[in-house]
Amino acid sequence: MTINILAIESSCDETSAAVVVDGRVLSNSILSQDIHKIYGGVVPELASRAHQRHIITMVDLALREAGIHKRDLNAIAFTQGPGLMGALLVGVSFAKGFSLATDIPLISVNHMQAHILAHFIEDPRPSFPFLCLTVSGGHTQIVRVNDYLDMEILGQTRDDAVGEAFDKIAKLLGFPYPGGHLIDQYARRGDPSRFTFPKSEIPGFDFSFSGIKTAVLYFLRTELKKEKDFINKNIENLCASIENTLIGMLFDKLTLAVKQTGIREVAIAGGVAANSLLRERIQTKQKSGWHTYIPEFEYCTDNAAMIGIAGYFKFLRGDFADLTVTPEARLQLDRI
Ligand code: KG4
Ligand code: ZN
Repeated sequence: MTINILAIESSCDETSAAVVVDGRVLSNSILSQDIHKIYGGVVPELASRAHQRHIITMVDLALREAGIHKRDLNAIAFTQGPGLMGALLVGVSFAKGFSLATDIPLISVNHMQAHILAHFIEDPRPSFPFLCLTVSGGHTQIVRVNDYLDMEILGQTRDDAVGEAFDKIAKLLGFPYPGGHLIDQYARRGDPSRFTFPKSEIPGFDFSFSGIKTAVLYFLRTELKKEKDFINKNIENLCASIENTLIGMLFDKLTLAVKQTGIREVAIAGGVAANSLLRERIQTKQKSGWHTYIPEFEYCTDNAAMIGIAGYFKFLRGDFADLTVTPEARLQLDRI
């Protein structure tokens, strides 16, 4: 039997739908909501409204691109959380309505697990157990992955996520939201040792990113008083130095986790896994015996393909959501 899954992602500011057939991604339509740029951050109410406006088009696109008709679907996977409540509700309600109308079972997917399982979309695939540094706009975690659906958080941020730190610092530098990738771009032409920012010293595998954000704020205030054009004149060196500090903090903890667990299968996942310095640095670790796994850019930032692949593994285990319209429930509905 072929397993055809329609997947929906709506946890933040990407409206995305994908079709995954037997664990293979046939389509992955992603719409990034531009509206938030004006406000310098995601406005939850606007995100929900934009999801509402675009979700049907995105699902339609994904089904058409995959050449799959809705009657041929075996399950609908949706992001259950974590994420913005109003944004998640759009995806859940759509999936639930679709399921009620078509009798297709539902699968609920954890967004962070899905970021990690994006590694099973394409080769090379990590073998278990592996460590995954999961870094996004909302999370920063080191996860020990024992199996597809068996994961253990070894450490995480105690305040801001690293992506959030990238975006907030980018805003201080005058970049539009989300500015993480712009810091990355400018950093390529800068000197990472030009400016020094403090790294947080938290014991164990936990992180903290609020200190560096404040340090950059005070540093810029002082320098701008001396020279009005300080940011423009130093933008490349500033970006390179900030990026070097943020990625350095991630890397120190990841190296510690590898040392202490003895696990050398190491993956990165989430939006910040698109960062070129992080990708470069993790690759160089192959020389010291790490087996490293870096997802394609398309599968780093939020996308429904990763929800579909996670949904596929849950389907194989018969792990369906409570909202599923079981044959018994259908009978009751028919009687009403
Ligand atoms: O996983 P994701 O798409 O959404 C969340 O679940 O949060 O991650 C988005 C985050 C944003 O903070 C964005 O600035 C950051 O990933 N990001 C980057 C890069 N590309 C995206 N941060 C640093 N360098 C990049 N190249
Ligand atoms: Zn995400």
